[in-house]
Amino acid sequence: MDAVQGVLHQGSRVGRYMVESFLGAGGMGEVYVARDTLLGRQIALKVLPSGCGADRIERFVREAQTSSASNHPSIVSIYDSGVADGMQFLAMELIDGEPLSSWMESHTDVAAGIELMAQVADGLARAHDAGIVHRDLKPSNIMVGRDGRAKLVDFGAAKLTERMPHAGDDDAEVVTARISAVGTPAYMSPEQVDRRPVDHRSDVFSFGTVLYELLARRHPFAVSSFVDTIHNVVHHAPALNAIPRRWRRIVARCLAKDPDERYQSMREIANDLRDFSVEPSPSGVLGGKVRTWLPAIVMAALLFVQLAIIVVARGATAARPLSLTHATTSATATARGGSAFISTQCASAAAPKPTNHA
Ligand SMILES: Nc1ncnc2c1ncn2[C@@H]1O[C@H](COP(=O)(O)OP(=O)(O)O)[C@@H](O)[C@H]1O
Ligand SMILES: [Mg+2]
Repeated sequence: MDAVQGVLHQGSRVGRYMVESFLGAGGMGEVYVARDTLLGRQIALKVLPSGCGADRIERFVREAQTSSASNHPSIVSIYDSGVADGMQFLAMELIDGEPLSSWMESHTDVAAGIELMAQVADGLARAHDAGIVHRDLKPSNIMVGRDGRAKLVDFGAAKLTERMPHAGDDDAEVVTARISAVGTPAYMSPEQVDRRPVDHRSDVFSFGTVLYELLARRHPFAVSSFVDTIHNVVHHAPALNAIPRRWRRIVARCLAKDPDERYQSMREIANDLRDFSVEPSPSGVLGGKVRTWLPAIVMAALLFVQLAIIVVARGATAARPLSLTHATTSATATARGGSAFISTQCASAAAPKPTNHA
C-alpha cells in the first residue's frame, strides 16, 4: 500500500469507497479521490480525521445537509454521507480541476475570471434561496473545473437561516447558535468578525473580497498580523485603483461595511457582472450611456459635413431643395444600433433626378 498525504492510504476502505489518492485538506477535513466500488465510479471522499470533537462532527454533518439542500451546477453535488469504518465521510462529485486560489496564480484572463465569479454568484443565489448562508466563501472553497465551470465546495461553515426539510426546529436553531464564529477571518464580513447576526449579505461581502483579490491580484484586507487583518475588514476601505475601472462599482457595492448598502442579492451581482452595457468610460463618467450615443453623434457630424459639401458643390445655383428625410431616419436608426451607412448616396437619392427624355 502506497502512502498518500493525509490519514488515509491508497487502498484504504471507508465503507464501499476505496481511496486512490489525496486531493486536498482545509481546516476541517481531508479530501481524497476514491472509487465507489458499488457504482464503479470515481468520487471525491471527504473524511473527518477520527478523534474529532462533537462540534466538528456536527459541522461535518451539517455540511452534508446544507450542500445537498442546494441543487445547482455551481454547487458540488453530494452523493452520500455517514459513518463507516469509524470515520465520518462525505461522498461527492469529483471535480476535475483546481481551487480558484491556484487558478488565480496561473491565469490572467479577466473575462474568464469574471465569468467564473458570475457562476459563483449564481450558485450562492440558489443557496440563499434555500435559506443557506455559506459563510466561508474564499478562493480555496471555489473549484474551477477543466471545463471552465466554477463550483462551490465546503459548506462546513454554512448557516441555516430557514428550517431544513430534514431537520427539526430545535436542531436548526442549535446549529445556528453554535457556529456563530466560524469562517476565515480575511474573507469574513465585518458583522461576521464582530459576531453580530449574519444573513446572505455576509456572503456578498466575502464575494466582494474574492472578486477584489481576483481583479487587483492582491487581497483587500489581509496583512501579516491577524488582529490588523480583522481591523481592516471592519474599518478599512480598500483602494480600487488596482481594479479595472469597469468592475470598481460592483466591487465597492459588495464591500460596503453596512449590509444595507451592499448588493441585496447575488442574482443582481451575477447580472451586473455579465452586463457589459454599463462600462464606465476612462473619465469615470458612466460610459455606457456615452457609448450608446457616440455613434449617433459621430453620424450626425458626418451627415452635416456631407450636406455642407453637397451644398457648396452645388453652389448658389442649387435650386432644388435637399431632402433630409432619408438621412435623418438613418441617423436615428444608428442611435438604436442599426445600420451606420449614411453617405452622399443617401442625400442624392432623396433629391429629384434630372430626366433624360422630354
Ligand atoms: N468535490 C471535490 N472535488 C475535487 N477537489 C475537492 C473537492 N472538494 C474539495 N476538494 C479539494 O480539497 C480541498 C479541501 O476541501 P474542503 O471541503 O474545502 O475542506 P475543508 O472543510 O477542510 O476546508 C479544497 O480546497 C479542494 O482543493
Ligand atoms: Mg475549505
